[in-house]
Amino acid sequence: MNGNEFGRLFRMTTYGESHGEAMGCTVSGVPAGVELSEEEIQTDLDRRKPGQSMITTSRGEPDKVKINSGLQDGYTTGTPIGMVIQNKDARSGKYEPFITAPRPSHGDYTYSAKFGTRNWGGGGRSSARETVNWVAAGGVAKAVLAQSDYDVTIKAHVCQIGDVEAGPVTFEDMLEHSEANEVRCADPDAAEKMRDVADRYQKEGDSIGGAIYFECRGVPPGLGAPRFDSFPSRLAQAMYSIPAVNDFEYGIGRAARTTAGSEYNEDWEFDADGDPVPVGNDHGGIQGGITTGQPIYGEVSWHPPVSIPKTQETVDWETGERKEITVTGRHDPVLPPRAVPVVEAMLYCTVLDFMLLGGRINPDRLDDRPGEYDTAYHPSSPQNDPEDAGTHAKTVDED
Ligand SMILES: Cc1cc2nc3c(=O)[nH]c(=O)nc-3n(C[C@H](O)[C@H](O)[C@H](O)COP(=O)(O)O)c2cc1C
Repeated sequence: MNGNEFGRLFRMTTYGESHGEAMGCTVSGVPAGVELSEEEIQTDLDRRKPGQSMITTSRGEPDKVKINSGLQDGYTTGTPIGMVIQNKDARSGKYEPFITAPRPSHGDYTYSAKFGTRNWGGGGRSSARETVNWVAAGGVAKAVLAQSDYDVTIKAHVCQIGDVEAGPVTFEDMLEHSEANEVRCADPDAAEKMRDVADRYQKEGDSIGGAIYFECRGVPPGLGAPRFDSFPSRLAQAMYSIPAVNDFEYGIGRAARTTAGSEYNEDWEFDADGDPVPVGNDHGGIQGGITTGQPIYGEVSWHPPVSIPKTQETVDWETGERKEITVTGRHDPVLPPRAVPVVEAMLYCTVLDFMLLGGRINPDRLDDRPGEYDTAYHPSSPQNDPEDAGTHAKTVDED
């Protein structure tokens, strides 16, 4: 069964295994006329890549992206965008003991139980190495939104590691401060304490869980397709696809359990333009499965990384033996710092998909001029070359 596609109109199809030759994806549904470069995609890939600090895995992947389809002279053509990221630092030998003796809490047993076989090096297809593809696709979605008529901004930061929680931060704090420390927390004091916690667990040969808070600003009202393609159901799919996520909530989330209706409900008021606006945003920007135009916010939790050097027990289904194992190698001691760009990427993909589905952005072309050709956004158009100017069949008014 195919579980390698995400999105309805803006759709990524991914491939690759942790220790295979390369990771890659095809992104279809990208409107023509979006300026795009490998450098732009690379900026986000560099934020996700391994080996950034002492609290990330030391696997040495350059994660260089190659765009091999869908661009002409630096602009999207509306045809599928192909992207490849080579795997350069795979060391599969350490995974041989686990071929028939599954590592605790990984996908080793479940992949084998489903397919009867699996690519076992580095966890193969179950590895979070796959998320490099999602960040590349998210970079494309981000570029489309940035060049659209909408002012959508998305940011996430680490709000908890172990028992250390970030203090209250504004969206501006998140934009300004979250990339300034290796934990990616917008509260610098909490970031230091989180770093200490991650260090402590790493030194003890252990790992620890944590959480990310996210916010999407500028998403227009009216997006979402209830019932089964409601905005929160697609958001939940996006978040729960991320490896090791075991909790997602939006709005006031689980605090709703102890909240009275009178406290939760938000009255309606008119905004400065005379449009209805809810007073407050406990609903997290979504009502009835459709966006209200208020900021969409929520939290995502990660269990601790399960590859730890402490001794653990497993069984070998081939030999019938019980075994003690230690999972040595290069692993993250805590996941949210590296997952921030992954969350942002999946949010960009989800929001853009709904913008296309909701007709806010023309799915064929960003300039919203279907049926008109040789328009100025295409730099190789004869219209831009005086010598070829007579060759084009139809000119377009440039108002
Ligand atoms: C960015 C990122 C990096 C990860 N790195 C590791 C790691 O180094 N070690 C580890 O045990 N798990 C890591 N994980 C989580 C595993 O991929 C995941 O726990 C495993 O595949 C089992 O899947 P599940 O936890 O969703 O059941 C990472 C997850 C993300 C999002």
